[in-house]
Amino acid sequence: MTIAPVSGADVAIRGVSVGYPGQPVFEDLTLNIPGGVFTGIIGGNGSGKSTLLKTIAGLVKPSRGEIRIGGEPPQRARAFLGYMPQVSNVDWRFPITVRELVSMGRYQFSWYRRLGRLIRSHEDQIAVDRALAMMDVQDLQDRQIHELSGGQRKRALIARALARQPRILLLDEPSAALDAVSDDHLFDVLCDLTDLGTSVVMTTHDLSTVIEHYSQVVCINSAEGGVIAQGDPSSALTEDVLRRTFGRELAIISRGDVHDEADRQDEHHTFTIGDELQLHMDDHVHQEGHRHGSP
Ligand SMILES: Nc1ncnc2c1ncn2[C@@H]1O[C@H](COP(=O)(O)OP(=O)(O)O)[C@@H](O)[C@H]1O
Ligand SMILES: [Mg+2]
Repeated sequence: MTIAPVSGADVAIRGVSVGYPGQPVFEDLTLNIPGGVFTGIIGGNGSGKSTLLKTIAGLVKPSRGEIRIGGEPPQRARAFLGYMPQVSNVDWRFPITVRELVSMGRYQFSWYRRLGRLIRSHEDQIAVDRALAMMDVQDLQDRQIHELSGGQRKRALIARALARQPRILLLDEPSAALDAVSDDHLFDVLCDLTDLGTSVVMTTHDLSTVIEHYSQVVCINSAEGGVIAQGDPSSALTEDVLRRTFGRELAIISRGDVHDEADRQDEHHTFTIGDELQLHMDDHVHQEGHRHGSP
C-alpha cells in the first residue's frame, strides 16, 4: 500500500485564552508548532494537554486570540485534521462496530454533505481499510467497540483519525496503556507518516519515549503560565524545565552517574535524561482516566 506525501500543517497559536465555564486553563497562550515533524506535548495531570489539543482541533473555542492550522482557522482545518481524543473521554457504550467507528473519521466533520448518502464512496472504503490495517485492528472490525480492551480502544481511535488521511494528526495520550510491542508499532507508523510530511502532535506522560522519538517537545503547565519550554528534547528538557512542568509528580533520583539498578527495579516509572539525570514519576501519573472517570 502506498501513501501519497502530504504537506504537513503547522500550528500558530497567538494570544489565546481558553478554558471551561468557571475554569480558565490558558491565558494569553502563544505557541508555534512546525509542520511535518513529530511533536510531543508533555505536562503533568491537569496541566492542559487535552485542552490544548481540543483547542487546536476546534473542539473548545478560545475566548480571545487566534489559531491557524496550515494557515486556516480550526473550523476550516477540520477537513485535513485527524484527532484522537483521550480514551477516557469517550463513551464506549455506544453501539457501533470498530469499522463504523473508523469510518466516522471520513465524515464526522462534514456529515451534512453526506447526509442521506447510503453507499460510501470507494475512496472512503480504501481509506478505512488502510487505517484499520495501519493500526492492526482489521480483525476486530466487526466487534462492538464496548468489547475492546484499553489498548484496542486506543488503536481503533487512532485508526479513526488516520482514516481522514490528515495533514496534521493530533493524538491525546495514544501510547500509555498500549503494551510495549503495540507502542513500537505505533511509533513506526507515526514516523512513517512524518517521513511523508504529516505533522504529528501527541500528548504523553511517558517521558522515556520523548527523547527517543520526538523531534520537538513542548512542555506545558497551565498553572505556570502555559508553555514552559519548547525545542529539541535533548536540549529543552533541563532539570529546571522538568520541575516546572511536572511539579511534585516528578522526583529527581540522582544527578551525575546514573544507577542502572533503579532502572531495572521500576523500569516503567524510572528513566534517565541525557547522561546525568535519573528521574521518577509518581505512580498516579500513569493511571489515565481517574480524573474524568468514564468507563
Ligand atoms: N470539560 C471540562 N470542564 C471543566 N473543567 C475541565 C474540563 N476538562 C478539563 N478541565 C479542567 O481543565 C484543566 C486542564 O485539564 P486537561 O486539559 O484535561 O489537562 P491534562 O490533559 O493535561 O490532564 C484541569 O484543571 C481540568 O480539571
Ligand atoms: Mg489529558
